[in-house]
Amino acid sequence: MKKAFVTGITGQDGSYLTELLISKGYEVHGLVRRSSSLNTSRICHIFPEAEIAGTSKSESGLFLHYGDLSDSEQISNIMDKVKPDEVYNLAAQSHVRVSFDTPEYTGNITGLGTTRLLEAARRSNPGVRFYQASSSEMFGGKKPPQNEETPFYPRSPYACAKVYSYWMTRNYREGYDMYACNGILFNHESPRRGETFVTRKITRRIARIVAGKEKTLSLGNLDAKRDWGFSPEYVECMWMMLQQKQATDYVIGTGETHSVAEFVDAAFEYAGLDREKHVQIDQKYFRPTEVDVLIADPRKAEKNLGWKAKVKFLDLVKIMVDADMREFGVEPVGEGDMILAKRFGKKWWKGD
Ligand code: NAP
Ligand code: GDD
Repeated sequence: MKKAFVTGITGQDGSYLTELLISKGYEVHGLVRRSSSLNTSRICHIFPEAEIAGTSKSESGLFLHYGDLSDSEQISNIMDKVKPDEVYNLAAQSHVRVSFDTPEYTGNITGLGTTRLLEAARRSNPGVRFYQASSSEMFGGKKPPQNEETPFYPRSPYACAKVYSYWMTRNYREGYDMYACNGILFNHESPRRGETFVTRKITRRIARIVAGKEKTLSLGNLDAKRDWGFSPEYVECMWMMLQQKQATDYVIGTGETHSVAEFVDAAFEYAGLDREKHVQIDQKYFRPTEVDVLIADPRKAEKNLGWKAKVKFLDLVKIMVDADMREFGVEPVGEGDMILAKRFGKKWWKGD
């Protein structure tokens, strides 16, 4: 039985990746931060015990370990004990806007945290396979469409930290012959997306407006363009990258780009609401430096991995609006649910 260690297991991608790995028969070990309120809601269907003590195991074969990417001793302890075959580094201070408020902390976790993990992984098992969650933010929106050869131009403390982690991952591959890959993923969303990222903020607020709980939605820059895909498809690609003969880096995205304004329009229209009555602009959501246009050129992944995004922009909007309507007790429009049933059927992911 293969063993995988996943950092960021309580996040959007970590939760979907864990479901995928368990469906493939892996023993999965996850790193969890201690928090004063529970932070395991995205994995509580796999790990129902509310309390973790030391290393805890659920019936599904998922093990959770307390730790933090700032704590190299604990990271090393876990690696020595688990000796994983595959390591997925998904943990990060992942919010771009927040990274301007916490640049040093973001550098410590999103940057140096990767080095701590690479070093512990290499020492625990020289044959380990390592996935680094790199980001399209590293391109800074320059020279679209962006592929593996596009130069980096980081435009935030978050992106600077991810560029450092990207190069450390390559350095371990070249210097120690370690199987280490960077997945340079463009934005990917889902019903489990964090509530303060723009897509989820929009769909959640729409559901609350329909439910009569709110009236307005305040946003920042509506002109930025993103290549938005669907998280459950993207975590499958992370796994594929670690199953190849040779380690290399991949750009992953849909190959389409849409503005934040287009997302707002599509979501309001789908929910049957008039955007003009609800949306307002608030300067506090603008960033000191913005990434204007992200659009992936994912041809390398298509050719080498046979991977291609299936859920595109409008489908994604519908899936997310439906899920948030259900969460807030409103009857979903229903098209999003049908798209999920068609795309995923009875496959590993059953939908939220
Ligand atoms: P997310 O939902 O924000 O999850 C981040 C995870 O990191 C959470 O489990 C969080 O734990 C954990 N974490 C944060 N600080 C930590 C620390 N100091 N020590 C240990 N764990 C810590 O992010 P995501 O959307 O799933 O993204 C996964 C990864 O891919 C991130 O590295 C992100 O930067 C990168 N990425 C994401 C996208 C995207 O569009 N989603 C695109 C490219 C790259 P808590 O639950 O305790 O907060
Ligand atoms: N969060 C947020 N909130 N963004 C807003 C808002 C708002 O109220 N209004 C407009 N935006 C704009 C941002 O300025 C940005 O241009 C765009 O919406 C997307 O913002 P986010 O959803 O916060 O995502 P991001 O693109 O900055 O970063 C995400 O994708 C990266 C990959 O490209 C994160 O998941 C990163 O971790 C990831 O690396």
